Amino acid sequence: MIIYRAKDYQDMSRKAANIISAQIIMKPNCVLGLATGSSPVGTYRQLIEWYNKGDLDFSHVTSINLDEYKGLSPENDQSYRYFMNTNLFNHVNIDKAHTFVPNGLEVNSEKACTDYNHIIATSGGIDLQLLGLGHNGHIGFNEPGAAFERETHCVDLTESTIEANKRFFASEEEVPRQAYTMGIKNIMQAKKILVIVSGADKAQILEKVLHGPITPEVPASILQLHNDVTIVADEAALSCLTELA
Ligand code: F6R
Repeated sequence: MIIYRAKDYQDMSRKAANIISAQIIMKPNCVLGLATGSSPVGTYRQLIEWYNKGDLDFSHVTSINLDEYKGLSPENDQSYRYFMNTNLFNHVNIDKAHTFVPNGLEVNSEKACTDYNHIIATSGGIDLQLLGLGHNGHIGFNEPGAAFERETHCVDLTESTIEANKRFFASEEEVPRQAYTMGIKNIMQAKKILVIVSGADKAQILEKVLHGPITPEVPASILQLHNDVTIVADEAALSCLTELA
């Protein structure tokens, strides 16, 4: 495991974008596993900037996102498909037909998940998986207690997630109750994993993820067993790691 120390969010984003750029340059038809949330927004912005300068070509890249709310259409501005379109895909020359997000409109959960596992398998496997880290150690929507051996599945959102998300919706009733997420097994099968972490509020959980016991109670702790993990974290997020301070 390699840990890069970044000064702040912007520096973290630049370092992470460098790693993703290197992947695209080394293998133009690579498969990128992508994430939503606040952590990767700056990384995507940096990639767009380099694309606009002519330094990056996404035309042969395939992307496979971690997760999507069940019940939300791609046009819904809270859907993860909408997030990816507006934060990255609409601004680079990626072929949208080669960008995958679980189908939030598929009501049959088993079909949605089987289809998604099939997409991952037939893509040839994920070359580089980008991850953000939840405050409770979640990755994707794999919350504490999630089984390490699961592939894409449907999860019931916890009350605290519904509560946290309701500010984005007109009413609490509109907040999705379920989501489709890649499982830990899919994530662990990626050839390389890049985790980006920013902010003092993530410092305690990052310390647990890196140095605590490997347990489903801290889903990201399983990353200790992957043989090619890079962490890019800012100083605030690394503040509980004494040996690096
Ligand atoms: C996003 C995802 C989540 C986030 C995590 C961190 O697709 O699957 O696991 O990566 O919740 O979110 P932020 O980056 O908003 O702190």
